[in-house]
Amino acid sequence: MTSRANWGSKLGFILATSGSAVGLGAIWKFPYVAGKNGGGVFLLVYLACVLTIGISMVLAEMSIGHMAKKSATTAYRNLKGGLWPWAGRLSVLCIFILLSFYCVVGGWSFAYLWLSLTGEVMTQDTKALSDLFNGFIASPSQSIFYTGLFLLATVGIVMGGVQKGIERTSKVLMPALFILMLIIIARVLTLPHAMDGVMYFITPDFSKINAAMMIEAVGLAMFSLSVGCGILIAYGSYVDEKTKLPGATLWISLLATLACVMAGLMVLPAVFAFGIDPSAGPGLTFITMPAIFSQMPFGQFFAVMFFLLLIFAAITSSVSLLEPIVAFLIDEFNIQRQKATLMTCVAVFALSIPAALSFGVLADFHIFGKNPFDLMDYAASNVMMPAGGLLAALFAGWAIWPRVQASLVAQDAARILPAFRFICAVVAPIVICVIWAHNL
Ligand code: PHE
Repeated sequence: MTSRANWGSKLGFILATSGSAVGLGAIWKFPYVAGKNGGGVFLLVYLACVLTIGISMVLAEMSIGHMAKKSATTAYRNLKGGLWPWAGRLSVLCIFILLSFYCVVGGWSFAYLWLSLTGEVMTQDTKALSDLFNGFIASPSQSIFYTGLFLLATVGIVMGGVQKGIERTSKVLMPALFILMLIIIARVLTLPHAMDGVMYFITPDFSKINAAMMIEAVGLAMFSLSVGCGILIAYGSYVDEKTKLPGATLWISLLATLACVMAGLMVLPAVFAFGIDPSAGPGLTFITMPAIFSQMPFGQFFAVMFFLLLIFAAITSSVSLLEPIVAFLIDEFNIQRQKATLMTCVAVFALSIPAALSFGVLADFHIFGKNPFDLMDYAASNVMMPAGGLLAALFAGWAIWPRVQASLVAQDAARILPAFRFICAVVAPIVICVIWAHNL
C-alpha cells in the first residue's frame, strides 16, 4: 500500500475544492436562473442559502472525510459501519452519472472555443446562432467527439494524482478563471445601458419571492457547492492535520459564491445592454453570449476568453467528479490509481454516449418521459444529490456527532457548534426533504 495522498498546501486544497464548486453551475446556470427569477431577489435568497445550509453542509462533508482519511464509502464504514457505507456507494453512483452528462456540456464548451477561434459564432443573428447550436448538439459525431475530448482532458489531470494533477492544475486554472472573468466584466460594464443589468442584479424586488424560486435557490446552492455527492468527503480526506476546516470552508464558499456573482455581472449587464430578455434560459451561454460578443469591439477576443473560462470552470469540476470514483476504487479494492482512472474513464465514456446523443438521434427515446440526458440530470441532481446531502447531514449531525464535535473543538471552532449542529441535524434534513418532495 502506498501512503495516502495529501494536498501539498492549504492554498492548493482551497483552490482545488473551490475549483470543484465553481463550474457550469456558476457560469452557465446561475446567470440564467437569476435572470429568470427576478435578479436581485434571487441573489439575496441564494446568498442566504449559501450562508446557512450551504456552508454547514460543506463543513459536514469535509469533516467526515477529514476524520476518516478515506473517500465516502470507506469513511462511512470506518466511522460507523452498519448500512452507512451504502450512502457512500450511492454517492459514487451519483457522480458517475453526473460526470457522464457533465462531459457532454464540457464538450460543448470545447466546441464553442473552437467556433470562436474560427469566428463561426461571430454573428448577431440569434436565429443562425440557435440553428448552429441545435445543429451541433444534434450531430452524433461532433457531440461524441467533443464529449470524449473533454473526458480525456479530465482523465489526464486525475491520472497525475492529487498533488501533481488536481492541485497543480487548479492552482493555474482558478486564478486564470477569475482574471478572465474580471476582464470580461470590465468590458461588459462599459457598454451603454450595462448599469440597468447591474441594477436588475443587485436590487431585490421582494414581490418576486415565492416557494418555487426558494427551492431552486437551495438546490442551485447545493449543486454549486458540490454538496451531496461525496466529493467533499474525498477532498476533505486529503487534508492534513494542521489545516483548520472551518476557515477553509469559509474561503471555499466565498470563492464559489463570488464566482456566481461575477458570472451574473458578466452576463446580465451584457444581456441588458443589447436588449435581450434576461430569462432567455439555458441558451444564454451558447446562443445569446456569442450574439452579444459579435456586437462588441474586439468581440471575438472576448468570446474566446469567455469559452476558455467556461472550460476552466468545467474541467476543475469534472476532475472533482472523477477523483472520488477513482478514490473509491483505490480505497475499497486497492486498485492502482492509473488503472482505476482508465477503468472509470471507459465506463463514463460509455454512459456519456446516450447523453451526448440526446439532442439528436436519441431525442425521441424517452424513459419516464425524459431523454437520456435529462433523465441522468434529473436522477443525479434532483434525486441522488439531495439524498446524499440528507444522509451526510444526518450522519454528521446525529450518527457521529460526538466525534464531529470533538474534532471541531480541536480546531478551535467550539463557537460555531450550536448553529452548525442545528443546521445539520434539523434544518438541512427538513429543507432537503422539501426540495425532494417538490422535485419528485
Ligand atoms: N459544483 C459544480 C458546478 O457548479 C458541479 C458539481 C456538482 C461538481 C457536484 C461536483 C459535484 O458546476
